Amino acid sequence: MCGIVGYIGQQDSKEVLLNGLAKLEYRGYDSAGIALLNEDGINLFKVKGRIATLRESVDAGVHATMGIGHTRWATHGEPSEENAHPHQSTSGRFTLVHNGVIENYQDIKKEYLQDVVFRSETDTEVVVQLIEKLFEKNQDTLVSFRQAMEMLEGSYAIALIDNEDSDTLYVSKNKSPLLVGLGEGFNVVASDAMATLKETDQYLEIHDKEIVIVKRDAVTIQKLDGSVVERNPYTAQIDASDIEKGTYEHFMLKEIDEQPIVMRKIIKEYQDEAGELTLDEDIRAAMKAADRIYIIAAGTSYHAGLVGKNLIEKVAGIPVEVHVSSEFSYNMPLLSEKPLFIFISQSGETADSRAVLVKIKEMGHPALTVTNVPGSTLSREADYTLHLHAGPEIAVASTKAYTAQIAVLAILAVDTAKVKGIELDFDLMQELAIVANGIDALTGQKEELESLTRDYLETTRNAFFLGRSLDYYVSLEGALKLKEISYIQAEGFAGGELKHGTIALIEKGTPVIALATQANVNYSIRGNVQEVVARGANAMIISMKGLEQDDDAFVLPAVHELLTPLMSVVPLQIIAYYAALHRGADVDKPRNLAKSVTVE
Ligand code: F6R
Repeated sequence: MCGIVGYIGQQDSKEVLLNGLAKLEYRGYDSAGIALLNEDGINLFKVKGRIATLRESVDAGVHATMGIGHTRWATHGEPSEENAHPHQSTSGRFTLVHNGVIENYQDIKKEYLQDVVFRSETDTEVVVQLIEKLFEKNQDTLVSFRQAMEMLEGSYAIALIDNEDSDTLYVSKNKSPLLVGLGEGFNVVASDAMATLKETDQYLEIHDKEIVIVKRDAVTIQKLDGSVVERNPYTAQIDASDIEKGTYEHFMLKEIDEQPIVMRKIIKEYQDEAGELTLDEDIRAAMKAADRIYIIAAGTSYHAGLVGKNLIEKVAGIPVEVHVSSEFSYNMPLLSEKPLFIFISQSGETADSRAVLVKIKEMGHPALTVTNVPGSTLSREADYTLHLHAGPEIAVASTKAYTAQIAVLAILAVDTAKVKGIELDFDLMQELAIVANGIDALTGQKEELESLTRDYLETTRNAFFLGRSLDYYVSLEGALKLKEISYIQAEGFAGGELKHGTIALIEKGTPVIALATQANVNYSIRGNVQEVVARGANAMIISMKGLEQDDDAFVLPAVHELLTPLMSVVPLQIIAYYAALHRGADVDKPRNLAKSVTVE
């Protein structure tokens, strides 16, 4: 959460910073600011609100070839101009942006900064004040920066300007993402390469607790003990057009529509010309060796994990548990003898999942990350990675990553079955190709789905999603999609659980969206719908070709029974989109949320 950009070079840094921050808004968007260093000193611009508001507040007449910027998702202190970054030390000499949470900021405040008058409620201001306090003693910025980083506990990505030195940006990170981008006569710093792709595609990874000294024509990485680290840059594999909306009004709709393309890309990436699956032999060995799999994920990725459990158990015959990452550490189950942990994460940066990864690595267990961002923290720190190939997902509400996660987990399940010599009676890649065509058809039915949204969700304050078996898992995802972007209170329920309490909430007009894509429970889920209708619910059934009945509101093209979530989620994504749109909500940037949840 929170996005950082820094620039040091020859040209005016304002545009690089503002454009970069706009690309990082998915990381948080409640306040923002930039600091520009020129011959007049630091020029600070901060606002409560979005980058568009910040842009309006920046004095176009200020030119500076060096600067840092920040877009914030509030942790300590409400969203306000005072709490927005950059923060400055009392004398104004040091200016700093930070992403993460400093866990010991109160201790530092008490021990070293009792005489300091703070201007914000943030943990970040403590860091910049600490640097100044250390500098008062040693009169050396690099030494003070290093000492301060040594003292911090928690997560941070930090960029610092000393306004007496217009030739250096000081940078460091621990647990939070930060990269240095390399250019000719300039260098940049960013939370995500997406932010500065216009400037360069050459990036240097920064590892935890390293100090990076960024100058116009040189970048030096040091360990905390001052020793120099050599590291080669890599080329960022992002296509600039992937991060533009094009003709779409919202990224979310663009990303929904991209799902067939992603499905075909996954089919291409995971098989060779002879049609054989191409998973890494190490991953195969790890899957084969596992006596139980523990899937760890959050939110939408957790919902994909539930579907993945079904696939791996049914196809590959390995028992699977799925855990919400934020709960795992407290409610750790008794582990099997040979566990394999699978982390599912679009961003690869989710802090709760990373905390579990760190813990299980300490315990010596193997880990596989399934992610859309191969260079991400969860990818780097796990033993193996499976790439989603979904392209950048920018809308906060995850859509194409969910379907990509399920498709990749299906490939993993089928590959493992083959390695174990289990005979399968279907060709997964062919079935995924059928899914891709099916989603194509669905994305062409938006008018029909928009009209259903009007009929069922236009004025409601709440909604229920019902399903059994795989449809239950998709109902959880449908409810999450609807609530997070339209703010309609929505819950997903297992059809059989209704009568154990939830049905008490059904009253005249309550919208209920039921999924009926599972042959073995078609009869019983329809029974549940009758029960809510008898109590006044405004219920609709989304079914699948072959299982449909006359009054069904929407019928999905038929796909393989194990892959139905790849189809049934799509109308729910589209319905959520229109529900949010009709309410005038900010579809791509819903309130209180951020795309990448990098604090626990
Ligand atoms: C909801 C959504 C979130 C994420 C969750 C995990 O639409 O996007 O629930 O799925 O924050 O994020 P990742 O997958 O990046 O670990």
